[in-house]
Amino acid sequence: MSVSSLNIKVTPTSQSRISELDQNNLVFGKQYADHMLACYYENGEWNTPEIIPFGDLSLSPATSFMHYGQAIFEGIKAYRHPDGSIAVFRPEDNWKRMNVSAARLDMPEIPAEIFLDGIKELIKLDAAWVPEGENTSLYIRPFMLGMDEFIGVRSSLSYAFYIITSPAGAYYSKPVRIYVQDQYVRAVPGGIGFTKAAGNYGASMLPTRTVKEMGYDQVLWTDAFEHKYVQEIGTMNVFFIVDGVALTPNLDEGTILAGVTRDSIITLLKENGIEVQERPISIDELVEAQKSGKLQEAFGSGTAASMSFISDLTYQGETLYLPEINTWSISPKIKKQLDDIRYGRTPDTHGWIFRI
Ligand code: COI
Repeated sequence: MSVSSLNIKVTPTSQSRISELDQNNLVFGKQYADHMLACYYENGEWNTPEIIPFGDLSLSPATSFMHYGQAIFEGIKAYRHPDGSIAVFRPEDNWKRMNVSAARLDMPEIPAEIFLDGIKELIKLDAAWVPEGENTSLYIRPFMLGMDEFIGVRSSLSYAFYIITSPAGAYYSKPVRIYVQDQYVRAVPGGIGFTKAAGNYGASMLPTRTVKEMGYDQVLWTDAFEHKYVQEIGTMNVFFIVDGVALTPNLDEGTILAGVTRDSIITLLKENGIEVQERPISIDELVEAQKSGKLQEAFGSGTAASMSFISDLTYQGETLYLPEINTWSISPKIKKQLDDIRYGRTPDTHGWIFRI
C-alpha cells in the first residue's frame, strides 16, 4: 500500500488485466480498468478515499439504496491526446451536477478533492486503459449509494462513493432511430428529472425495450401533461436544426438533465454564429417543420453517446425522415470541433480540458 500526495491510499492490483484489453473491439460498459476508488461517509463526514483493485462489493441485503433508490451517478470521459497525454473533459461540471443530484435525493455533497483528485489519481494509475483509437475513450463512472443497513424508510445516514472506469468505443455505431413516447413519462416538474438518479433510468427500461423490439434505438420523452413538448432522449439530450436555427428544450422546469455535452454544443453553435433557442419545442412544430422541409438536422448529445445523429423520428405511427446526413452542414461541423477539443487536436480555448 502507498499513500498519494493527496492522501488517497493506493493499493495496487497484484495482477493487471490490461493484456485482456482489445482496443479494436471496445464495447461500451463491458470491461473495467484494474482499479476503483472507494470512499465512505459516516458520522457526518467523508473518510479518506482509497484506490483499490476493481472487485466485487460485499453488501448486506438490507442496504438501503437497494430498496429505496438513493443512488446517483455521473458519466465523464478521458481522452488520449496525440502526444500520448490524457485529458478529462469538463469533470468539474460533472462534480457540480452530482451535488445537484445529491441535494435532491437528500444525500451528502461530495467534496471536489475526492471527486476530482480521485479521478486524477485513478486515471494516473490506470493510464494504460485509456485507449488510443478513433472515437475511443475511458468512460469514468462515479456513483454514490445510501448504505445504511436499514429497511425503514428514511434518508440513509451512511453513504459510499465509488469511481470505476471502462474503456469505450462509440455508444451508437450508426444514426439513431427515435420513437416519440406519448404513453409513458420520464419526468414531471418537482420530480427528479434533472438529476442523474438511477431511478430515472430504471423507469425508462420498459418503454425503451418495447421500442427497441419495434426497431427503434431510443425513446424521445414528451411532457407528462399533454405529451406535446419533447424533453430528452433516453440516453441523451436532443437538438433540432430547423431553418438554420438550433432548437433544444429549455431546462427551467427541472424535467431535463443539464447535459455537459449539451452545454458545450450550445457554446460551439453560438461561436459558429448559429442562433440557439432553448425553449419548449412541441412535437407538432417538428412535424410541421419536417413537412415543409425546414427540419434539416437532429441529434442527441451526451457523454456516453457524444453527438449521435438522428435518422428518423416516429410519432403516432408516422415516420419523419431527416435529410441524408451527407447534406447536413451544421451538426457534423460542431461534432468535429467538439471532438478536436476532446482529442487534443485543437487548442482548448474554453478551459474544458482537465489534464491528468
Ligand atoms: C452518460 O452519457 O454518461 C450517461 O450516463 C448516459 C447513460 C445512458 C450511459
